[in-house]
Amino acid sequence: MKSVQGKKAGFKPFELMLDQKKINQRIIQLGESISTDYAGKSLVMLGVLKGCIVFMADLMRHIKLPVEVEFISAASYRHGIRREDDIVIGGGVSIPLKGRHVLVVEGIVDTGRTASVIVQKIAKMEPASVEVVTLLDKPASHRVKINIKYKGFSIGNEFVIGFGLDNAQMYRNLPFIGRVIDN
Ligand code: IMP
Ligand code: MG
Repeated sequence: MKSVQGKKAGFKPFELMLDQKKINQRIIQLGESISTDYAGKSLVMLGVLKGCIVFMADLMRHIKLPVEVEFISAASYRHGIRREDDIVIGGGVSIPLKGRHVLVVEGIVDTGRTASVIVQKIAKMEPASVEVVTLLDKPASHRVKINIKYKGFSIGNEFVIGFGLDNAQMYRNLPFIGRVIDN
């Protein structure tokens, strides 16, 4: 009975991949780099929901600049055996981005399509600059050319959960990054 409920809840066995201390140390470094690079400027942090939430909350507290915060949502839908995903971007951006320095904040970049679509969308709004920061990147999985200026960690082609990242909408609340064990 327990295992049936577990399956219903989308239970996946996982192992620790990056602990809180390691993640926090890296986020502090990212905050320092961003604060230095944008010194004298103000920043619009544009979080990509929902995977950005934990990372963004931590990162913004380590950025020593005037910062405004905005969110957009992105969802990718896979159609049958077709390998292409449709990326659906939702949520209007209420802050005018023209002439602003925009930093897109992602939890994870996999194929790079989501980040690429968002950067193109923002670029049309004539910002002063648009860059990407992601907690995790899977460089071997990129399928489009995407310039990621700031990244926390590069990982292999594996599925990870926690620290905002989900499997079937679960596990975002884990305070560390876990690697799903495929068995
Ligand atoms: P993209 O392939 O770079 O467009 O990424 C699409 C989305 O897939 C990401 O924003 C995540 O929401 C999700 N994703 C990709 N890899 C993982 C993973 O390992 N764990 C959890 N979500 C993932
Ligand atoms: Mg997801």
